[in-house]
Amino acid sequence: MTTHTVTVRAGGGSYPVLVGSGVRRRLPEVLGEVRRVAVVTQAAIGFEVDPGCEHEVFTIGEGEEAKTLATVEELCRAWARWGLTRADRVVAVGGGLVTDVAGFAAAVYHRGVGVVHVPTTLLGMVDAAIGGKTGVNLPEGKNLVGAFWQPGAVLCDLDALATLPERERRSGLGEMAKYHFLTGRDLTALPLDERVAACVRIKAEVVAADERERVGARRGRAVLNYGHTLAHALETAGRYDLRHGEAVAVGLVYAAELARRLGRIDDARVAHHRRVVEGYGLPTAPPPGVDPDELMTLMARDKKAVDGLTFALDGPDGVEVVTGVDPTVAAEALAALAGSP
Ligand code: GLY
Repeated sequence: MTTHTVTVRAGGGSYPVLVGSGVRRRLPEVLGEVRRVAVVTQAAIGFEVDPGCEHEVFTIGEGEEAKTLATVEELCRAWARWGLTRADRVVAVGGGLVTDVAGFAAAVYHRGVGVVHVPTTLLGMVDAAIGGKTGVNLPEGKNLVGAFWQPGAVLCDLDALATLPERERRSGLGEMAKYHFLTGRDLTALPLDERVAACVRIKAEVVAADERERVGARRGRAVLNYGHTLAHALETAGRYDLRHGEAVAVGLVYAAELARRLGRIDDARVAHHRRVVEGYGLPTAPPPGVDPDELMTLMARDKKAVDGLTFALDGPDGVEVVTGVDPTVAAEALAALAGSP
């Protein structure tokens, strides 16, 4: 299989993202001359990498409960005991949680040590590991503390996807579905490796144009949150058995229904959203028993909502951030969704 190389320009420099089968073997090459490597992973991941130099594996816990400042402190203390220096590197091997936590710890340890990401999930490959967003949760909310810390390289080894449980693999497709609407390109017919590379390329372009997600930008990095306003509300409500990518899938169809009601897109474009999401075997409606009032309240509290209800919405000029959305229309779109098959 071909290896695709995408260059991300950010953080005043650039770095390669390699996509293909077996690219983990390129780790020594992308690390270059380093003395030691701290590999950060989770016990259940079982995807081994060989940095080709002295290294030690540091494991962090599973689930959102592990995405805390306490985990960052534990990691930094373990690195200090081991003697990690700024001449060394961190290599994060895992899903978005691992790359977010290890990336943040790398950003703050000794005021910054280099990191290479080896995402092992589709979600990590097309989103979390690319673009330098790192961070952890607070009891008050998700990803409230973090830093922009660009990796030195990202290795998207497609062999890792074979190790994933089916539902986890499908969940990653939700983030992938998002990219179908961020450009005019149809990704449907592409084989997996090319599709992952295409998603990385789209993200790289968005990040290069707006690395730090300028507040108030209509077309900046915030468009990467397409489908995420309802998705985050569904996740925050916490009562629904949905993976992130499944929640994003529902959020994409909701965003299309809302954009149509606001006169931004037509019926055919909504149907296209449904086709893409269904094509990935993902849900197009919230689970039964969903509480629309609660979701409306949570959507109003979204981090993007600085000026009334705020959504990334498709329209004649593509996806852009729209503020001050009429709550009645937003509620109508939600009701239409809940009623759909
Ligand atoms: N996941 C959205 C971003 O990286 O900006």
